[in-house]
Amino acid sequence: MLPLTHSAGETRRPRAVRFALSLLCGITLLAGAPALQAEDGYDLWLRYAAPGGASATASPGITQLVAVADSPVQAATHRELQRGLEALSGTAPVGAKTVTRAGALLVGTPASSPQIARLGFDLDGLGDEGYRIRSAVVGGHATTVVTANTDVGALYGSFHLLRLLQAGQSLDGLDIREAPRLDVRVLNHWDNLDRYVERGYAGQSIWDWHRLPGWLDPRYTDYARANASIGINGTVLNNVNANAEVLTPMYLDKVAAIAGVLRPYGMKVYLSARFSAPMEIGGLATADPLDAGVQRWWKTKADEVYALIPDFGGFLVKANSEGQPGPQDYGRSHADGANMLADAVAPHGGIVMWRAFVYSDEEPVDRAKQAYNEFVPLDGTFRDNVLVQVKNGAIDFQPREPFHPLFGAMPKTPLMMEFQITKEYLGFSTHLAYKGPLYEDVLDADTQVQGPGSTVARVIDGSLDGHALTGIAGVANIGSDRNWSGSHFDQANWYAFGRLAWNPALSSRDIAAEWTRMTFSNDPAVVEPVVGMMMASREAVVDYTGALGLHHVMGRGHHYGPGPWVEGGPRADWTSVYFHRADANGIGFDRTRRGSDAVSQYAPPVAEVFDDVARTPEEFLLWFHHVPWDQPMRNGRPLWDELVLRYDRGVSTVRDMRVTWAGLDGRIDPERHAQVAAFLAIQQDEAQWWRDASVAYFQSISGRPLPAGVAPPPHPLEYYKALEFPHAPGDTQ
Ligand code: GCU
Repeated sequence: MLPLTHSAGETRRPRAVRFALSLLCGITLLAGAPALQAEDGYDLWLRYAAPGGASATASPGITQLVAVADSPVQAATHRELQRGLEALSGTAPVGAKTVTRAGALLVGTPASSPQIARLGFDLDGLGDEGYRIRSAVVGGHATTVVTANTDVGALYGSFHLLRLLQAGQSLDGLDIREAPRLDVRVLNHWDNLDRYVERGYAGQSIWDWHRLPGWLDPRYTDYARANASIGINGTVLNNVNANAEVLTPMYLDKVAAIAGVLRPYGMKVYLSARFSAPMEIGGLATADPLDAGVQRWWKTKADEVYALIPDFGGFLVKANSEGQPGPQDYGRSHADGANMLADAVAPHGGIVMWRAFVYSDEEPVDRAKQAYNEFVPLDGTFRDNVLVQVKNGAIDFQPREPFHPLFGAMPKTPLMMEFQITKEYLGFSTHLAYKGPLYEDVLDADTQVQGPGSTVARVIDGSLDGHALTGIAGVANIGSDRNWSGSHFDQANWYAFGRLAWNPALSSRDIAAEWTRMTFSNDPAVVEPVVGMMMASREAVVDYTGALGLHHVMGRGHHYGPGPWVEGGPRADWTSVYFHRADANGIGFDRTRRGSDAVSQYAPPVAEVFDDVARTPEEFLLWFHHVPWDQPMRNGRPLWDELVLRYDRGVSTVRDMRVTWAGLDGRIDPERHAQVAAFLAIQQDEAQWWRDASVAYFQSISGRPLPAGVAPPPHPLEYYKALEFPHAPGDTQ
């Protein structure tokens, strides 16, 4: 019989159902067809299904599990290995105190295991979180050793080993050395205390605040397992548009309860702090960061937090941005605000992550320039325990943006990356858009500040400017939905974020393959087409939402569908027309030296390229240049024709993805296959809608005929403009 997929604790099916399912499996096997048990996606990439193919029924070759389980982290590691090995091989691993037979798995630190200590492996340079996985002879027996300086390192190494086993890789001759390149690898939950998730498309918040701390949903443990498996070591529990109440004693008890669940998995909790909390919950008359009473309030608050949660990570702050309070309300700078909080948490080893996503209340010449203008003058004035958290691009998580000009421009300040995992601008959870290539593009982008090779990855990993504190944040896409992320494929974005946070040099294609093997199947007939779909998917979204550097052309408020016509309202830089600037002559935002001069925020070699319409990569053409509709593209086509054809190309890529997925029927379990198929159908309709609405609008401005053979939009422009989505999920409340 095929080994049944083992689920996380919460997901175990009732015995009768399992019996019926195993009968079904047996019957299908007899009929000669592959048996695929329906799956709901809860198990993520930790399904521990047999690797498939030739080795489907082979044991992973581990005969004995030698690992102490004395500390909470060791116990979590032990549990995971037992769960994984049993599910992969069909039998529970034999536990032992020492290695006594060939094929043993020995896990621990030199401190926890005398046998490991005697091996004398070199663990230098692995730090507190790195690990080694080595094939060795222990007591005369061939053994696989997972070891580290700390228990958490051994936990990460154990997840790595389980990844190898899930992919059916041999354990012979292993010599793996891994250590994370970034220290702080955190999720940012934009979750409100009423469980509404801003820009969340996977149900309610995972944090059941009302029932905490009494009820610890088993999901929290599975959340911690999933994060630890990809090396995420912290989480900010609440929205950056923060509610001060999270800092009241009642909520801090709840936060401490979550911290207790996450701790054995190497995860710290952090909180978004509302800058005006001293007034709102402290009864002070001001939140001025230079006021002694305010400073005292934050120090006392930090002491209170650390008394409950000794390993509390620190605070994340959105200040003086989109209406949030901040130090500028008192004529103080971002550094004044950040440093005050940094001083409060410093005695406890805490950090402050201060966001650079700011733009002033006055209407700017170019919103893309604001963060740079406000933060570069502050370089070198932040405390050592402050990280300035910068979005990957200067506007806002668009399907494609050039890298943020702050990267490389603040050499005396550690900058951390903020990626969005949730897909605010990439079709929410129903569109398949694998963001690995987006993350990779940004991390690999060359700032050139210290000559070629000064990549964004090297800015954030501290190697370019010699920073000790480093970090990366991903705005989470996790919610109460059974499959965590709203869609099966959106799990891959969580996974890719974690893997790149650990090592920003990994390839997004390799990560996609790794994820596919663990999430769906090791069968090459599945892995190849699925990875192909994933790798094409982000580009498809760029094409059907607005290629060639168009940005911020979505509907107002909900950000769901097309809205290139959006104009008016409270601020010009919240409209689409501000960003695309289309008129009868041409389209695009002139950010050259003759325009807003945003190009000059980049290092000179980069600025020169972006300033020159002939050298600017076409993917950023309309980001940096206002060009005539008949501007010849590199392939000779006029810009207008190219733009329209890109919209069509996006739709046809989605059509191809659907065909590919349909061809996988029978190779993927029916439950997940059906949902992905249904979502792809939605995506195709909506890609068509984006294309039709955008073409209708831009044609009304350009007044040009469509290229030969291109179908006109089926409805007049007014039809698209009249569509409304007042209840779209995730919109700001
Ligand atoms: C975007 C998003 C907001 C969010 C903001 C932020 O503007 O639409 O919902 O609050 O980013 O990052 O702070």
